[in-house]
Amino acid sequence: MTDRLTIRRPDDWHVHLRDGAMLEAVVSQTARQFARAIVMPNLTPPVTTVAAAEAYRARILAALPADGDFRPLMTCYLTDGADPTEIARGHESGAFTACKLYPAHATTNSAHGVTDIRALGPVLDTMQRIGMPLLIHGEVTDRDVDIFDREAVFIERTLAPLVRDFPDLKIVLEHITTAEAAAFVADAGPLVAATITPQHLHLNRNALFDGGLRPHAYCLPVIKRERHRLAVRAAAVSGSPKFFLGTDSAPHAVERKEMDCGCAGIFNAPFALESYVAVFEEEGALDKFEGFASEHGPRFYGLPLNEGTVTLERKPVEVPARVAGLVPFHAGETLGWRLAE
Ligand code: DOR
Ligand code: ZN
Repeated sequence: MTDRLTIRRPDDWHVHLRDGAMLEAVVSQTARQFARAIVMPNLTPPVTTVAAAEAYRARILAALPADGDFRPLMTCYLTDGADPTEIARGHESGAFTACKLYPAHATTNSAHGVTDIRALGPVLDTMQRIGMPLLIHGEVTDRDVDIFDREAVFIERTLAPLVRDFPDLKIVLEHITTAEAAAFVADAGPLVAATITPQHLHLNRNALFDGGLRPHAYCLPVIKRERHRLAVRAAAVSGSPKFFLGTDSAPHAVERKEMDCGCAGIFNAPFALESYVAVFEEEGALDKFEGFASEHGPRFYGLPLNEGTVTLERKPVEVPARVAGLVPFHAGETLGWRLAE
């Protein structure tokens, strides 16, 4: 039985690092485990300009010890008024690694998101031409579509036509939650990929109502039925280069989670690698973990693989009730692997 697993240093291809005091509280949890991270731009106000992305990157780095080498990869939040020239300029200079598409009102701080993706033609043409990835929160926002169906309906109504109309655009369907999403990505060409979170590998929707209402299991897209969890697990451990690690760690203050209208988001950064590796072990796929965590993402983005390694060891680790004053994913549980010092 393998008791130690050494892999190339991994990256997190989807994380919310927030700003201000929250940024200071959470950023080290990501920087401790990952060499790079794709940082979501849904701040208030959202990160829509090169100047805003550069200033945000500087705040992230200022919140970390100066001797570290964590590299935040910044994203541009697309609005109806997104400017292709600014986006191309940011991509060229390295200020923007990718653009993030939030359908307006789909999730936290998405009020400035896109109301009609077809109106973004000039932006998407530019991104396709310069090879800049489009990262998508893939849910329709119509209130008459059942919340558990919003991802599948998005794929049918929006994503399939988008892939058809922009065949050379690199697309990441973020935080996939359904069998439909896993199948769509697997069957699409090599320019369509997906990130997968720990919570969508561990939990099905029963977790939201396990003995009572469980706000710390609530994120968007919401966790789905067991058959979807199994399909997403199969995709993660398949070894396909289209699926890679993106935690979607999304911290909110405890009182903003535990309220009459609690925020969506799971703070999974503190034990992210431990959480993922547990799944790969349960699936008998520890040999596929390095690809998922450290290789598929950079290859898709066209970035170099990291130098250096991290080691996980088979030793129990108790996840505390609070980390940095917040409730982490797996709080109170014991995980079977831990990151070696
Ligand atoms: O659960 C989520 N939280 N999903 C998102 O898409 C956004 C995120 C957040 O920013 O809190
Ligand atoms: Zn997210």
